Amino acid sequence: MNDLENQRVVVFGGLSGIGRAVADAFRQAHARVFVADLAATADEPDSAQVDISDYESVKTVVSHIAEKWGGIDHVICAAAKGSGKFGFPFWNLDPADWQSVLEVSLVGSVNVAHACQPWLCEGESEGRTVLFFTSVAGQIGSQTDPPYSAAKAGIVNFTQCAAKDFAPYGIRVNALSPGMVKTDLNESVWATSQANIPPENRETYAEWAEKKIKTIAPLGRWQEPEEFGAMAVYLASRKARNITGQTINIDGGQVMHS
Ligand SMILES: NC(=O)c1ccc[n+]([C@@H]2O[C@H](COP(=O)([O-])OP(=O)(O)OC[C@H]3O[C@@H](n4cnc5c(N)ncnc54)[C@H](O)[C@@H]3O)[C@@H](O)[C@H]2O)c1
Repeated sequence: MNDLENQRVVVFGGLSGIGRAVADAFRQAHARVFVADLAATADEPDSAQVDISDYESVKTVVSHIAEKWGGIDHVICAAAKGSGKFGFPFWNLDPADWQSVLEVSLVGSVNVAHACQPWLCEGESEGRTVLFFTSVAGQIGSQTDPPYSAAKAGIVNFTQCAAKDFAPYGIRVNALSPGMVKTDLNESVWATSQANIPPENRETYAEWAEKKIKTIAPLGRWQEPEEFGAMAVYLASRKARNITGQTINIDGGQVMHS
């Protein structure tokens, strides 16, 4: 038996991309997994439709699953969105483009933390965990989508605040920071980057991706969703009992802190 067997895990944004791989990794560790996602339909087992920017809906979903299970042990928030526009220079965007990005990609994780806090702190809280998702974009002032970068920088900071507040309860909080992973979200970055380029000079997603990863990552290769699943399971396990408040880059070396 591993120490995640029968643990109660909620993954926000767990229906596709990296979040899906994280949910699968917990299932493989024999945890109980519930997915809350904007795209969830009634056909999906153990899931509910929720928009993380809507605090009341997040609270309703969290209460539903926590009451059913009698608590929650691990919470992951992988859901995020970009502006859908190419934000370099930043005045390509309007200030109005920032609001919905911050509401989902920053305040959404805050909503999840608030909704789960009473359940996480209740009873035998030692060993419980929270995992957020930030991005290399939040650590290097990426020019592609400034509201997205700012939201992700906010996640790094909130991870540290929440880690300090939860520490007396034995609850750990960390963030994972992907570099480049081939998901819908990543493909949308390529799509917006091509919008202002004359059609004859546009690149396919494969051409753009191949060139970009070799330019920005010392290891020159893409990360796979499963790598985040493996790290998420490790961080939730007892082996990681001294890791909290950290942003862990899985990015082929794009960001290196001295
Ligand atoms: N893919 C990358 O290269 C990359 C790079 C850096 C950071 N990240 C981060 O990793 C995380 C996962 O990204 P991904 O590429 O797997 O994204 P994705 O777009 O493939 O999946 C995101 C999931 O979140 C859900 N979602 C979106 N908005 C939501 C909302 N308002 N409420 C609830 N659910 C919502 C979607 O339905 C989807 O299932 C995100 O936080 C993202 O910012 C990804």
